[in-house]
Parts: sequence; structure tokens; C-alpha cells
Amino acid sequence: MFKLDQRIGILGGGQLGKMLCQAAADWHLHIAVLDPTPEAPASHLCHRFVVGDFRDYETVLSFGQQVDLITIEIEQVNVQALYALEQSGKVVHPSAKAVEIIQDKGKQKIFYAENGIPTPAFELFESEQSLLEAVHSARWRLPLVQKTRVAGYDGRGVAILRTPEDLDTKLLRGPCLAEEFVSVRAELAVIAARNTFDEVVVFPPVEMDFHAEANLVEMLLCPARISPIEAAEAEAIAERVIRAFDLCGLLAVEMFLTQDRRILVNEVAPRPHNSGHHTIEAAVTSQFQQHLRAICGLPLGDTSLRTPAGMLNILGAPDHNGPPHYTGIEQLLAEPGVYLHLYGKQRTAPFRKMGHITITAPTIEEVVNKAHRIRHVIEVTSRPQKT
Ligand SMILES: Nc1ncnc2c1ncn2[C@@H]1O[C@H](COP(=O)(O)OP(=O)(O)OP(=O)(O)O)[C@@H](O)[C@H]1O
Ligand SMILES: [Mg+2]
Repeated sequence: MFKLDQRIGILGGGQLGKMLCQAAADWHLHIAVLDPTPEAPASHLCHRFVVGDFRDYETVLSFGQQVDLITIEIEQVNVQALYALEQSGKVVHPSAKAVEIIQDKGKQKIFYAENGIPTPAFELFESEQSLLEAVHSARWRLPLVQKTRVAGYDGRGVAILRTPEDLDTKLLRGPCLAEEFVSVRAELAVIAARNTFDEVVVFPPVEMDFHAEANLVEMLLCPARISPIEAAEAEAIAERVIRAFDLCGLLAVEMFLTQDRRILVNEVAPRPHNSGHHTIEAAVTSQFQQHLRAICGLPLGDTSLRTPAGMLNILGAPDHNGPPHYTGIEQLLAEPGVYLHLYGKQRTAPFRKMGHITITAPTIEEVVNKAHRIRHVIEVTSRPQKT
């Protein structure tokens, strides 16, 4: 039974938490946020902001005890505390079990294998040394992709090993997995939502273009420029994956469309996702409202697009660290069909996600053209730039 006055606690107060708070404000839902940074993006938009480490057992437990429903905007949270909260009768969406599997790329891959979900071939290694031995004995051949099992994000726990020299310079330390290097025709993401009544809906697939140096999504397009059959397959896979995880809330499913036209699941995130930001302006229901609907046991919203759209991340300029300074805002906002989101982070750093821009236009070609025209208009540096 939905209660308007229930207290919802979000672990994490970054930009995803901020945008969840913005959506929650439409219904005046009561939101508490836990984040270690006092000036975190969500800190000004919630009813109660608690400064604390969401990786710490006691902190998460006591935060969770003071709310009715616990959710996350980042998956690197203390999962033992989530289990304890579930056992004490609190509602936790996504479930502790799903978060535990997803936190560890090794467990995630085993989960796909066990559930018959297509994913690049892989093997788990207890250290980088055992991976090296597997390469030297030709059990694994280059190129391959090495991923650390835990705590990777924004491409930081991923090394693409192409040459023997890469084994010396790029190898990551610690428990890891090796993955088949896939020749990718397009990277896709489908955000699925499941509510407490086991209803599932999916947003239309998006196409992600990567920034090579930063290893971050640079531009996202929706609808993806793929065939209707490929889109339907990607949607069906996302639905299968969210049902397999048996979780409530959003699940963003990142996939590869390979050169030989297979669709493979790369990884998932059980929360709102960078690849769904365009839904705020471009879909009937935003991913953030959808997450709230799903975890609160409400009917899921219409996921159809109102308009083709693109999304550009606004990244901190290379070589700049410190309080951010933005240039180009006036010029950007003079463009029609352009929506600016600034997260209010107190410090910029090279390639840090400081905001995003959503672009709408009548066709995806016009979205792409507009994106290329405006992509460098906004700059985030750590000191005022001469103009
Ligand atoms: N098996 C693979 N074959 C080819 N390219 C890959 C493979 N795995 C990962 N990549 C490339 O590396 C990128 C980052 O990988 P992945 O999504 O697993 O890491 P991540 O650090 O969790 O990323 P993010 O936080 O940006 O989503 C992918 O988007 C893709 O471009
Ligand atoms: Mg990824």
C-alpha cells in the first residue's frame, strides 16, 4: 500500500541522488540522503541530509533504521548493512542480494552464465599474476579485456590489453577477470523497471558513444540507430535480466551489439543511470520518477519517447582541479531544444562529470548535428578563463 508520508532513504547524494530528489519533489515524497560529502549535489534538495559513509556498516544501518524504504544511487554501499536492514523488516530496493552480485563483476558474470544471459566469454582470476600465467601459457590470447572485480567505475577498473607491452604497462592489480575482446558495432543501454507487483517495462534502447581518453560516455542517442529487430532483442534481454535479478527499481543494462550482430550484456547498474538522463525531457516518464514508482509499488509510467534526443556529459577540463568555473552558459542556452543540468559539485577534476546537456530535435540526425555544434560550448575549468 503506497503511503505518501513514508520516509525514503537514498544511499548516495551525487547527481543521480539529486535528480531522484527532483523527481520526488513532484509528489512531495519525504527523502533522506546519506553521503560523505557535506556539499554533495543532493544535499540541498532533500528533507534530511546525513553526512556519513555509505560504505560503513554502522552508518548505513543507523541511517536505514530511521527510514521506511531504502534505495541507492550508487552500488558501492555496505551490503552487509542492507542484509541486516532487510532482516529487521525494512524494505530495501534493490535487494541486498542483487546489489551484492552487481558490486562484484566476477559474481555478475557468473550470474549471467548461470541464467543463460548472453555475455562475452570470461574467466575469473585471483590475481593479475594468474591472469599473466594464463596468457603466457596461451590459454588466453591478446587482445583481451581485464577488469577488476570490485570498485571499478567510469572505465577505471578496465584495461584493454592488446600487445605484450600492455601486459607490462596496463595490467591492473588484484582479483580480476579476463574477458573476450568483442568487436563492437555499437554500445547500447536499456533501462528496465520492475515494480513490487512484478510488472516490467523498458525504456527504448540508447546508443552510447565513448570518449576514448576519459573512457566515459561522451554522447548518448535515443532512439539508437539500430534495426527494429535489434532494438526488440535488446529490450527483451533487459527484461530477462531484471526478472533474473528479481529486484525492484531500475536496472540499467549495458550491452554490446557486435560486428556479427550478436547482443551481449556487458554490465548492469541497479539504479538510475547516465544513459537515462534524456528521459527527463524526452520520455513521457523520466527514469527518476520511474524508479520511485517502481520502489513505492506504484503503476509504472509510460516509457515512450516524446522526441528524439541526445545527451552530452559536461566533463571537467583536463589538467584542472579545484572549485569549478563555467564558461559558455549564455551561448548554450541561446540554442533551442537544449537543456542544461549542472550538478553543483564543489570541485572539478579532469573528466569529472559536472553536469549534462540534453538535446532534442525532430530527427536523430538533427540531434547529432546540434550535439556536434554545441559540444565544446561549455567549459569547466578551475579558474576563470580569459575570453
Ligand atoms: N569485452 C569487451 N570488449 C570490448 N570492449 C569492452 C569490453 N568490456 C568493456 N569494454 C569497453 O570498456 C568500457 C568500460 O567497460 P565497463 O562498462 O565494463 O566498465 P565500467 O568501469 O564499469 O564503466 P562505466 O562505469 O563507464 O559504465 C565499455 O563501455 C567498452 O567500451
Ligand atoms: Mg560500463
